[in-house]
Amino acid sequence: MVAKNIAILFSGNGSNLENLYLKLHNKIFNDVKIEFKIAISSRKDAYGITRCNNLGLKCEILSSKENKENYDLKLLDILKPYSIDLVVLAGFMRILGDEVINAYKIINIHPSILPLFKGANAIVESYQSDMKVAGVSVHYVSSELDSGELIDQDTLKKIDNEDLKSFENRIHNLEYEIYPKAVLKVLLECKI
Ligand code: GAR
Repeated sequence: MVAKNIAILFSGNGSNLENLYLKLHNKIFNDVKIEFKIAISSRKDAYGITRCNNLGLKCEILSSKENKENYDLKLLDILKPYSIDLVVLAGFMRILGDEVINAYKIINIHPSILPLFKGANAIVESYQSDMKVAGVSVHYVSSELDSGELIDQDTLKKIDNEDLKSFENRIHNLEYEIYPKAVLKVLLECKI
């Protein structure tokens, strides 16, 4: 059996972090054991930090106030001791620099059918658009916002007169289904 080590980066609520951890951590798939080694929050007030504490997942805070170059170097320093196979972004609201991108395999989830509705307001923009479907995307991370080769996407049908909260909940539920599968796909089917 081999172990695959994950680092997970977030900035806010941390619901995808918790979902991934509960579904994958210390579990064995095809003779591969998944281990979440470290979480990193870009905000010191992120609720995801409380989730990490409750889960027993070590969490470091690397504040967004750092300039980009310092941020990336400090991030590499934090990751170095853990032999990380995959960096998972779960609501991490920063763009990573080339040094980090070239050092690790990194994936991200975004709550839209990319390339539509990139950025921090994807759910609202998708809700307000006249499209009949919405969805979520998982992709490899490049140096541009919410861009990079797609790993998986899934869609849901919009419901007439649905309020934003209900729509948002359905988007998040889709994320909770698709992201663990995408992490496994990347770790088990692709050579790292
Ligand atoms: C998720 O909807 C995720 O797709 C989105 O942030 C939310 C984080 O929620 N990410 C992006 O918009 C990336 N551009 P969570 O903290 O509860 O997992």
